[in-house]
Amino acid sequence: MDDIVIEDLTKSYTSGWPGRPPYTALGGLSLTVRRGEIFGFLGPNGAGKTTTLKILLGLVRATSGAAFLLDRPAGDVGTRRRIGFLPESPYFYDYLTAEEFLSFYGQLAGLGRTVIAQRVADLLSLVDLVDARTRQLRKFSKGMLQRIGLAQALIHDPDLVILDEPMTGLDPVGRKQVRDLILSLRDRGKTIFFSTHILHDVEMICDRVGIVIKGRLLASGRIDELVRQDHTQSVEIVCQQIRAEGNAFLHSLATRVLQQGQQCLLILPTPDAVDAVVGEIRRQGGRLLSVTPHKASLEDLFFQEAAPGAFHAESHRHTGRAS
Ligand SMILES: Nc1ncnc2c1ncn2[C@@H]1O[C@H](COP(=O)(O)OP(=O)(O)OP(=O)(O)O)[C@@H](O)[C@H]1O
Ligand SMILES: [Mg+2]
Repeated sequence: MDDIVIEDLTKSYTSGWPGRPPYTALGGLSLTVRRGEIFGFLGPNGAGKTTTLKILLGLVRATSGAAFLLDRPAGDVGTRRRIGFLPESPYFYDYLTAEEFLSFYGQLAGLGRTVIAQRVADLLSLVDLVDARTRQLRKFSKGMLQRIGLAQALIHDPDLVILDEPMTGLDPVGRKQVRDLILSLRDRGKTIFFSTHILHDVEMICDRVGIVIKGRLLASGRIDELVRQDHTQSVEIVCQQIRAEGNAFLHSLATRVLQQGQQCLLILPTPDAVDAVVGEIRRQGGRLLSVTPHKASLEDLFFQEAAPGAFHAESHRHTGRAS
C-alpha cells in the first residue's frame, strides 16, 4: 500500500519580471512512498524538495500532474488530521512555553483538554524536553526548536509524517536524536517522508530514498540497490619490492600507481583485473601486502548523478517498482 503517490508533478514559478520565462522548479516528478516506511527525499539546495512537500500539503498548487496522500488528493481537508508536517522554517511563537506551544497546536487540531495534556506530556518526553517544558521558546537553542517542531508535527498522532529537513542545523547529537525519533515513529507503524541534503542521515535510517536534482527524480529505491547498480567497485592493492613506475602493464590496468619508497599502491577501477595485477606482482618478485575492495557509497552515486552533464533523460534510473 502506498501512502504517498506522486505522478508526473510539474511546478513553474512565474518570474515576476515581464518577458522573463517562468522558472521550472519541478519537471515531471513521480515517486511513491509505501505505508510504514522511512523514505528519504534527497537533493541539493534548490532541487525542488520544499516545493514538492508544499504541494503535498496543499500549500502550493502544482502546475500539472497529481499527488495523493493516504489515497486522497493532496490538500484534501479530511486527511489533514492524519498528516503531521514540520516545515523548513517553522514559525515559533517566541513567548509561549514549550508546553503552551504544544497545547496550542493540540487545540488547533481539535483535541480535547485531557487528551492534549496527555499527548503534550508524552511528546515532551519523546523529544527529550521535559526539563524545558516551562521555558519560553525564545530561550530555546536551535536543536531544541527543531525538536519541539517535531513534537508539534506529532501532536495529533498522525499516520503520515512529512518533515522538511528535520536534521538541518543540528549538531551530531541532535541529528542522532532526530534519527532515533524517526526510527521510533516507524516502529509505531507511521510512514515518514523527509527531505534532506545530508547523505549520511539517509544512509543511516531510510528504507528507500529518492534522489531529486533540478526538479527531477534521478534515482529511487533501496540504498543497497542504488549503490549496487552497475556501479564499479574499485580495488586497492598494496605491494612491496616492486618498481611499478616503469611497468607499462600495471599502468594499463590501474587508474593510479603510487610508489612510496619500497611500497607501491595500485588502484584498480574494477575487481576484474585483480588476478592479472597480482600475477604481475608475483612475476616481478614483489610481495603482496593487501587487496582491499572499496564499496561504492550513496555519496559516490549522488556526486555521479549531480555531476555536470548528468542531467539527461537517459541517466534517469529507477529500481524496484516504478516510483
Ligand atoms: N515562490 C517561489 N517563487 C519563485 N521561485 C521559487 C519559489 N519557491 C521556490 N522557488 C525556486 O524553485 C526552486 C526549488 O526550490 P525549493 O525550495 O523547492 O528547493 P529545495 O530543494 O527545498 O532547496 P533547499 O535545500 O535549499 O531547501 C529553486 O530554484 C527556488 O528558487
Ligand atoms: Mg527546501
